[in-house]
Amino acid sequence: MTAPLLSVRDVSVSFGGVKVLDGINLDVKPGEIRGLIGPNGAGKTTMLNVISGIHPPHHGDVLLDGASIVGRKPSDIARLGLGRTFQTSQLFRGMTVLENLMTGLHHRTSSGLLAACFNTRRHQEEEEATKEEARQALEFIGMSAFADRPGSALSFGQQRVIEIARTLIGSPKVVLLDEPAVGLSLNRLAEFDLLLRRIRDEKGVTLILIEHVIRLVMDVCDQVTVLSSGRRIAEGSPDTVRNDAQVIEAYLGKELRARHPAS
Ligand SMILES: Nc1ncnc2c1ncn2[C@@H]1O[C@H](COP(=O)(O)OP(=O)(O)O)[C@@H](O)[C@H]1O
Ligand SMILES: [Mg+2]
Repeated sequence: MTAPLLSVRDVSVSFGGVKVLDGINLDVKPGEIRGLIGPNGAGKTTMLNVISGIHPPHHGDVLLDGASIVGRKPSDIARLGLGRTFQTSQLFRGMTVLENLMTGLHHRTSSGLLAACFNTRRHQEEEEATKEEARQALEFIGMSAFADRPGSALSFGQQRVIEIARTLIGSPKVVLLDEPAVGLSLNRLAEFDLLLRRIRDEKGVTLILIEHVIRLVMDVCDQVTVLSSGRRIAEGSPDTVRNDAQVIEAYLGKELRARHPAS
């Protein structure tokens, strides 16, 4: 059996005495696209915050490539190979598209603020390398022509694609996406499906996808984990999860009724 690339072990988080994550386990294999679904407030974003080091768990462990990352700084975890988007992330509207992409790596480069101030040679070399990576990421998503345009000139859908491309800077092993497809048109959704597969197949990146767009989750994910009130209520192939009575009761039934009120 392949060893998991990312392991969440018996993780619990409480806010003000309320358990938001309650003994969660998750094993994601290299090359997997894992869906993480569940109602609002289920604990999905908290889970990503625990993995990326923004919120340390009150109990349990997180292993990346077999080594515990709990207690390490988010920037260290990023450097170890973890990228992510934020549920509310936006582009810097005044910066160019290329500059926006470069912000994906600035927290990972080794020369610090002081080096930047003195514009040291090492800093210049790192800037050049980052720029080259940003250019490659733009090429990968077929948006090279947009490099020098301001972030504000992009459509909503283009901005969401750029946010994903930004996570690829620094060659991460695992990328966590928090509701990347929210608000996208149907045409864009088909593109997203393809983009996520290409990131996995061509970049070798393992993905965890939080998403309410169920069609995307069911189409693209190998395995789906369902959270409800901080507990894992189901896990398995998209088909298994889709037909799970508890999942329909806690989430899918409501979600589908909300989106297709007539049916
Ligand atoms: N920093 C925080 N302080 C207090 N409560 C929080 C904090 N972050 C999240 N919560 C609460 O934890 C629960 C889970 O939130 P979240 O992980 O954002 O859920 P989801 O992403 O599944 O919608 C919610 O009840 C939310 O209000
Ligand atoms: Mg959330």
